[in-house]
Amino acid sequence: GYVADEEYDYLYKVVLIGDSRVGKTNLLARFAKNEFSLHSKSTIGVEFATRVIHFDGKTLKCQIWDTAGQDRYRAITSAYYRGCVGALVVYDITQKETFQNLDRWLNELHDHMDHDNPVVVMLIGNKADLAYLRVIPKDEAKAFAQKENAFYMETSALDTLNVETAFRKLVTQVY
Ligand code: GTP
Repeated sequence: GYVADEEYDYLYKVVLIGDSRVGKTNLLARFAKNEFSLHSKSTIGVEFATRVIHFDGKTLKCQIWDTAGQDRYRAITSAYYRGCVGALVVYDITQKETFQNLDRWLNELHDHMDHDNPVVVMLIGNKADLAYLRVIPKDEAKAFAQKENAFYMETSALDTLNVETAFRKLVTQVY
């Protein structure tokens, strides 16, 4: 018979971008498999995982792409972005440089997106469980997101905080 989870109304490609070590792979693992690893290795090339969510009586299949934050491990950029409708642009709330580099990631995204079908962008401050090590105030991130016309949320892949909410919000905005 047919496998129920192969049936869906819409398929959405979403990309994860941001510096190395900010937690992209673990956000995806938490969303797609409810898993987390304290000792995950850097992604090499591209990986993806899918998960179905239900919204407005429809089945939305989310295909989430994850690539290396490190240039030397990255695959061909244009193929990575092709056809994506949403992007989670991730920084680490405890690492200033990862926030400063958001410009670079947003520029790359804008360079590759189809301007007739703008991508929904959500800025993610990850590792919210490490609030005592925070260097990026929420207000600063919120203001930056507003300027960039992006949504903003803080998450913890470790604590499962807002992970589901962030992916869901992004995908339902696309819908
Ligand atoms: P690249 O593949 O190099 O681009 O890295 P990445 O952005 O995919 O980061 P990854 O998910 O591999 O996580 C890097 C490190 O941060 C790992 O040691 C994770 O365990 C840790 N980490 C990820 N998310 C969180 C989080 O929410 N809280 C804490 N405390 N650690 C996290």
